[in-house]
Order: sequence, then structure tokens, then C-alpha cells
Amino acid sequence: MQQDIRAPYYGELGRLGFVPGWARPEPSMWPVPKPKFRPAVWRFAAAKAALEEAGKSVPIEQAERRNLIMINPVEGNAYATSRNIVAAYQMVKAGEKARSHRHTAAALRLVVAAKPGTYTVVDGARVDMAPGDVVLTPSWCWHGHANESDAASYWIDFLDVPFVQHSEAMFFESHPAGFETITGSGPSPHRILSREALGSGGDPKVVEIANGVLPTIGLSLMRLPSGTLRKVAKTTINHLYSSISGKTRVKVEGGFDESLAVGDVIAVPCWHAHAVEAEEDAVLFQVTDEPLLTKVGLVKTA
Ligand SMILES: [Fe+2]
Repeated sequence: MQQDIRAPYYGELGRLGFVPGWARPEPSMWPVPKPKFRPAVWRFAAAKAALEEAGKSVPIEQAERRNLIMINPVEGNAYATSRNIVAAYQMVKAGEKARSHRHTAAALRLVVAAKPGTYTVVDGARVDMAPGDVVLTPSWCWHGHANESDAASYWIDFLDVPFVQHSEAMFFESHPAGFETITGSGPSPHRILSREALGSGGDPKVVEIANGVLPTIGLSLMRLPSGTLRKVAKTTINHLYSSISGKTRVKVEGGFDESLAVGDVIAVPCWHAHAVEAEEDAVLFQVTDEPLLTKVGLVKTA
């Protein structure tokens, strides 16, 4: 029999802090994943032009926040790029420094354009940044950025902030010195050079990088000679891809089909089978939440 949820009984339940499980408008479980997040693409060329414009008005004191966040176009979302990860384009102009800070959210960045003299200081160590490099800042590592070159530098930040916010385990601290003093340099465990990681050769190759360094985020580099096709079955893992070199096409079931130029980013939410195809020799960067889902036993594939 249909319940009249306007009856006084239901009002009294609300005052007591209860919702009757039998009268909820939406179920809380369902047979298979039904992601709210959507496949979406963001273009580096558009971001670069918009950041150049922002560079005229957003002052150096806000350089660490002069970024463009890639917001997944799903109702009610004002921040995340995929369910657990946010991505953003950042510009640091010639001569600028972005002050040091640290946070419990884990972060990394993929360098798109930078001339020598661009670096991040991670826990006191200078980590140089060149195009194609991946620079890691694990949870609670101090990090600040500097650009001592004569041209603006651009990179893509990836952080697990949506997950950390959801967990309500966020901490953030600004460095007391403003920009952290450099106390060391040389090869850094926080810098991964994509060309070195992939090695030489012309065969299709996928290498996982930074294994275990970021407990929530999985990173891979893919060398995709022209014509290479990689199919990814429906999985609970959320994927982000960005092009490091060459041209790649990502076809997502349901008809979403986009070519990626260098620096473009595409989000493929969970439970979307998809295929990655190299339209010319390409290197692709993959960012997922697989380590997080693995830890909680939630990696499932159709
Ligand atoms: Fe940060």
C-alpha cells in the first residue's frame, strides 16, 4: 500500500533525525556502477590563452593559485575532474615564484611547456622541470615553484583532493619562509623523465611509474607507435589521459570520441569501456585512482 509521506508520523520522524528507508525516493544500492561523472575533454590551447589573459590581472602573490581547474560537467560538481582526482592547468610566468606549502592531498604535475630554469622545490630539494617530466609531491611534502627562465611555464596538476575532501582528512599549511630555501639538488626521486622511463625502442610499451609513492593515484606512461590500439574494458577505475607527444584518439562507448593534442586532458569515468588509438607516434600519460580502489577491494571489471 502506498504510504502518505505527508502524514504527521513522517514529519515526526524527520524531527527525530530519521529518514524511513522504505520511503526514500532513490535507492542506495544498484546492480552495477552508474557513474554520474561524464566523459569530457579539456584543451591546452584554450587554457594557455586563458592563463595568458589571467597573467595580466592575477598578481604574483596568487601565482600558486593561477590555475584553471578542469571541472567535470556533471550537475552539482564544482571542482572534481573525475570522482577522486582533480586536474588543473597552471602557469608560472617568467621570473615568478609560487610560494611553498604542503597538504595532505597527494599531488603531481605533468610539465607541458617549460624552459630551463623552471623548477619545484620539494622538501628543500630543487627538482628541475622540463616538458614531459612528471614531478611528484606526495602527501605533506613541502613544495613551491619557481620560473627563472624568460618564458612562462605551463603544467597540469593532478591531485586527490576530491577524495581527501570526501574523507574530511584535509590539512594544509603555508611554509613559514614563504618560499622554501633550497638545501639540495641533483637527481631527484620526485622527478620522472618520461623519455627515460620509457627507454628506447619503437614498440608499444606501458610503464607504471612512481609505484606506491602516491597511495591513491596510479601513473603510467604509454608509448604508442602510430596505429596502436589499446582497449580498456568496463572497470570501476576512473581514467584520465593527457598527451605528452604525438596525436592520440580516445573513443568512449556511447559515442564520445576525441583527438588529443599535446597537453589536452580527457576524463573517462568508471564503467565506460574505451579505446585509445595512436593517430601518429605518441606518448600518453595515464592517471587513475586504481591504487586507492585496490586498497579497498573495489577494483572490478566487466
Ligand atoms: Fe600544492
